[in-house]
Amino acid sequence: MIFIVTLFISIHSVFSQTSTSLCILDIRPSSSANNSNCIAGNWGGFLNNSCCGLAFNSYLYALGQRANQTNHIFLNSTEQNDCLASMKSMEGDVLSCGFEKLISGAGGCSDYSVTDVVNKLGHRLQSLSEDCNLLGMDNQSDKVCSACLRRWEKMGDLSNNSKDLMEFEGEICRFAVLVSMTSSRIDDERWVQSVYKCLGEQSLPMASSADDHGVKVGKNIKTGLWILIGGLVGITILVILASWILYRRSIKAKLPKEKSESNYSFSKGSSSLMIPIKEVYSATNNLSAANIIGYGMTGSVYKGILSNGQHVAVKHILDDGHMETFLREVTSLSHIRHPNLVSFARPL
Ligand SMILES: *[C@@H]1O[C@H](CO)[C@@H](O)[C@H](O)[C@H]1NC(C)=O
Ligand SMILES: *[C@@H]1O[C@H](CO)[C@@H](O)[C@H](O)[C@H]1NC(C)=O
Ligand SMILES: *[C@@H]1O[C@H](CO)[C@@H](O)[C@H](O)[C@H]1NC(C)=O
Ligand SMILES: *[C@@H]1O[C@H](CO)[C@@H](O)[C@H](O)[C@H]1NC(C)=O
Ligand SMILES: *[C@@H]1O[C@H](CO)[C@@H](O)[C@H](O)[C@H]1NC(C)=O
Ligand SMILES: *[C@@H]1O[C@H](CO)[C@@H](O)[C@H](O)[C@H]1NC(C)=O
Repeated sequence: MIFIVTLFISIHSVFSQTSTSLCILDIRPSSSANNSNCIAGNWGGFLNNSCCGLAFNSYLYALGQRANQTNHIFLNSTEQNDCLASMKSMEGDVLSCGFEKLISGAGGCSDYSVTDVVNKLGHRLQSLSEDCNLLGMDNQSDKVCSACLRRWEKMGDLSNNSKDLMEFEGEICRFAVLVSMTSSRIDDERWVQSVYKCLGEQSLPMASSADDHGVKVGKNIKTGLWILIGGLVGITILVILASWILYRRSIKAKLPKEKSESNYSFSKGSSSLMIPIKEVYSATNNLSAANIIGYGMTGSVYKGILSNGQHVAVKHILDDGHMETFLREVTSLSHIRHPNLVSFARPL
């Protein structure tokens, strides 16, 4: 025990000596610091290179430690520049990885403290912790990670529903929640690293196009499994939605059909309706959390009512990395003609 402690302290002091920079974080290189190792994931496309994954984990961990001590979540741009400069010496060039997006000063979630996150989220943060707490155990199943991941992806709607900011804000909010959650258990390094691993590797389809280091062979099976699960969940949701919409329609048989044709256009070469994105926002009350009726691998599904009274289900894809999968799913489903299936519409 004493041996382990002294070893830890001496490793620690070696690194504190080497990083004599202005960085206010205590960033330690990831234990398997190996820049040839690009398998750590790209956080659903948040990083634009999955070789940045390990360095990003070190950065997140250091933010978590600081949050534990100071209650602050993100660095401001000056502070971050100092830290990225100091990381350069141990992790290679991290300046074009995408960490730059995680800075304070942009309002909203970027300026939240841990206390703000706790106050805003309350029991939702509790549920997230519960779902993610089981990560890192020897007997952990894949289900644990997907439960944790799904919860975390929902945290984006913590922000005010300002339409333009939403995509970007959502990411910042999710990371603010992640840093807050890990800060309360930051000494449990094994757990924290398992959380990073689970959430960071979420978008393997995208990661595989970003780098080719021959380490993907084993992962492809896992990817296939995810796509399969995603597809099944998606199809189930779609079938349920279709029946629901059909049911509502049969009640409200007096739909103003002509109006729908004047407001929305049909896309070329297909019979899909094109609906202006503005209309989608107003139909779903700005993608309000109260309208959520389901969660899939790629994002949440919202119920909504178009201005002509038509009921729709809107799938909000949070991560472009899953876009292709979703489009394939939609394309194949839209070829099916059946009295019990309604047709798809898509925003302009
Ligand atoms: C780092 O990568 C090299 C090969 O590129 C490998 O031999 C070595 O074991 C790796 N080290 C760690 C800690 O993963
Ligand atoms: C960042 O914070 C430091 C204090 O930690 C402050 O001196 C500096 O002016 C801030 N920079 C910006 C760009 O806000
Ligand atoms: C990564 O993304 C940042 C913006 O977040 C951009 O400035 C940088 O050029 C990108 N790097 C690469 C290699 O695409
Ligand atoms: C949302 O709006 C309220 C008041 O309009 C404001 O107090 C709050 O800080 C805003 N939250 C975010 C995340 O911008
Ligand atoms: C996993 O192990 C922990 C104790 O290490 C136990 O509490 C938990 O019930 C186990 N879970 C499963 C699914 O076996
Ligand atoms: C800081 O971390 C320790 C150990 O992980 C934990 O016991 C403590 O509650 C944390 N403090 C805060 C404010 O999160």
